[in-house]
Amino acid sequence: MNILILATNANSLSTKYLKEACEKRHHTPIIYSPHDLYIHCSDGKGVDKLYIKNEEIYKENIDAVIPRTSGGGEYAVTIVRHLHKNMNIFSAISANGMLNASDKILTTQLLSKAKIPSPKTTFIQKTYRSDFNYLMNTVGGLPVVGKLQRGSLGQGVFMLETELAGATTLNVLEELKANLILQEFIESSEAGAKKSDIRAFVVGSQVVASMKRMSITGDFRSNYTVSKEAIPVELSEEEEKMAIKAAQILSLGVAGVDIMRDAETNKSYILEVNSCPSLVGVTKITGVDVAEKIIEYLEKMRAIKQSREELLKDEKPLNIYHKVMKYLLDGDIDYHADTITLNFDKINKIAKTIEALNNAKIKT
Ligand SMILES: Nc1ncnc2c1ncn2[C@@H]1O[C@H](COP(=O)(O)OP(=O)(O)O)[C@@H](O)[C@H]1O
Ligand SMILES: [Mg+2]
Repeated sequence: MNILILATNANSLSTKYLKEACEKRHHTPIIYSPHDLYIHCSDGKGVDKLYIKNEEIYKENIDAVIPRTSGGGEYAVTIVRHLHKNMNIFSAISANGMLNASDKILTTQLLSKAKIPSPKTTFIQKTYRSDFNYLMNTVGGLPVVGKLQRGSLGQGVFMLETELAGATTLNVLEELKANLILQEFIESSEAGAKKSDIRAFVVGSQVVASMKRMSITGDFRSNYTVSKEAIPVELSEEEEKMAIKAAQILSLGVAGVDIMRDAETNKSYILEVNSCPSLVGVTKITGVDVAEKIIEYLEKMRAIKQSREELLKDEKPLNIYHKVMKYLLDGDIDYHADTITLNFDKINKIAKTIEALNNAKIKT
């Protein structure tokens, strides 16, 4: 395969690992920055194009895309959407997935809607001083974790510990017109001990590696980039399921899911999901070649895409199941799961619903 690594930082170690994994599995890596690409939309002929400088990139010459565009902003998302949706090249991460993960408020809304455990969360923009205690109590009372809507590496995350410091901090952020997250503080360790959380690295329908990350002494944020301290960890079955479900809900084929275990109740919560997780720490700590897992996933998805296209090409569906599958696959859905359990009862139900909705029999 020719695999396009769409990277804002061509020299990063994560990009290097992906390039090496492509070569190890006998594929050709192509590395472009999204900012060097031009998008062309056709004048109604449906032939959308992409250029690097004055050279056209033909869709036949790219088999899959891996977006590595942290900080690439809206333009990078637009490039991924163009490659994936307009040029029909499979992308490990969809444009919607990038948008979902880059916005912590949207992520939390989607997780909550899917009933995936996450800490109690309140979103605010403007706050009245008289509402301060009420607001803090919606998320379990002080201390409360505050987060900017967008941020990474622990940089937009802060702690509201006392009423005065908390209320004045919210005041300043209101001046800056920031959208804010207030979140229940989950205590991951006994008093005085280092805090920790878990990074689960999801590829397709699997957690391929997971590590427990420690905070530096005196801090509550356990981002690996800050402390550089972590150990391999085994997830419970429930944690594994929620990490995989979170990635799927957000339309991410590759995701770094942050999970926190409450030391007292032993309950686990998803804190956030990253669409461009670093490969460096997790590879070093767990010894798992996550880059190779990503390339293997692309190989699997290419086979799925080919059989999907084969099925859609078929003029005469064999039976009602085939017809329903065709109907489902024909939709503009983001598909990233590499394992799908077919439930014929469910398909039958869907077929009946479609019949009822159309008030007509489906011809088989
Ligand atoms: N609700 C919370 N309770 C306790 N610690 C938290 C909470 N939310 C975040 N943290 C800590 O802060 C770190 C950074 O928060 P996170 O939401 O993952 O943002 P970022 O995108 O900056 O990584 C987490 O890895 C965790 O250690
Ligand atoms: Mg994080």
